Amino acid sequence: MKNIAVLVSGGGTNLQALIDAEKSGIIKSGKINLVISNNPDAFALERAKKAGIKTVVCNKKELGSEFENKLISVLEENETDFIVLAGFMCILSEKFTSHFERKIINVHPSLIPSFCGKGFYGLRVHEAALNYGVKVTGATVHFVNEIPDGGEIIMQKAVEIKDGDTPEILQKRVMEEAEWKILPLSLEKVCSELK
Ligand code: GAR
Repeated sequence: MKNIAVLVSGGGTNLQALIDAEKSGIIKSGKINLVISNNPDAFALERAKKAGIKTVVCNKKELGSEFENKLISVLEENETDFIVLAGFMCILSEKFTSHFERKIINVHPSLIPSFCGKGFYGLRVHEAALNYGVKVTGATVHFVNEIPDGGEIIMQKAVEIKDGDTPEILQKRVMEEAEWKILPLSLEKVCSELK
């Protein structure tokens, strides 16, 4: 059984999908034993507490240059084997990503390599897709390396764009039809393959 840490910043619907997938047996090779948020007000923290999962806040503003060192020490103290970025809005340096090589995955709300990289996060991704006028978007789960959204792709799922979509409507459809499905499936896949 692998110890899984989930890093969050906001609402935590992807965290909820992981908690539910663990309960329903979709995730069976690991257990979420830690949730870390950089944002003390993230609703994701409430979701974790309700599920009985330990929470830690690592406030980037307060920690400054010690932020990643603190993350690493909390992860090591909790014997983390695998890390999921689930709506975690901080870019991690090479020092951090190489410390956990092929042990970090991220969910991104577009079909990488479209609408990804620095500056593309949350609603901005969906705004960019609508502005460009693409007819299909989706979500991607990938390994995390030093290039933002640049690591090896694990799973992708396409989602149709419909007339009248707003960034908010599209975000919800991408979450429901893609993110909440492929994130748990990807986590189970990589955890079960982890030596
Ligand atoms: C999700 O759509 C996630 O894919 C996106 O932020 C949202 C977080 O929602 N992540 C990124 O844009 C990362 N580049 P949640 O807190 O409800 O899971």
